[in-house]
Amino acid sequence: MLEVDLGSGNGAFLLAMAALFPERDFIGVERLSRRAEKTGRAVARNGLSNARVLHCEIAEAMRSFAPESVAVFHLLFPDPWPKRRHHVRRLINDAFLRAAWTALEKDGELRFMTDDRHYFEQTRKLRHPFTEEEWELPDLPRTEFEERYRADGRPIYRLRLRKS
Ligand SMILES: C[S@@+](CC[C@H](N)C(=O)[O-])C[C@H]1O[C@@H](n2cnc3c(N)ncnc32)[C@H](O)[C@@H]1O
Repeated sequence: MLEVDLGSGNGAFLLAMAALFPERDFIGVERLSRRAEKTGRAVARNGLSNARVLHCEIAEAMRSFAPESVAVFHLLFPDPWPKRRHHVRRLINDAFLRAAWTALEKDGELRFMTDDRHYFEQTRKLRHPFTEEEWELPDLPRTEFEERYRADGRPIYRLRLRKS
């Protein structure tokens, strides 16, 4: 079972998940070399044989997954690009959702968290064949940005899309 953390940052979530679920495999995708290298070093230091990090663009990684090979995509606090003229830079668009659909196993899911209400609502309005589900998940490790936003008292919006 493969889970992919898109935009894994410094890797805190990836490492915690890999330690918590040793029977699953985890791949982080991160374009900033410093963050990807930091994650790679921490994976090695912690002896996590079920975790890897790819230093590349998310779009490139999405093209490289075999069809129906991924159980879960985590897209946790992607850059929100809040200014209207920058909305086109947001990761989630029709093309991204099509790529995620292809790479996901049947019943696989895409989990999206953001503090940006507009990004959340825009994503919910996109036309796609996914089924929206209740979040109803056990408490998972928090990402660095989730910790930061919770400490600031900012709202967190969560969306769980299933390939069913
Ligand atoms: C706001 S941070 C969130 C990091 C982490 N997911 C968290 O919640 O703490 C977004 C991360 O995604 C990475 N990122 C943004 N766009 C990316 C892209 N197109 N390809 C790969 N990584 C990307 C950034 O470099 C950054 O580390």
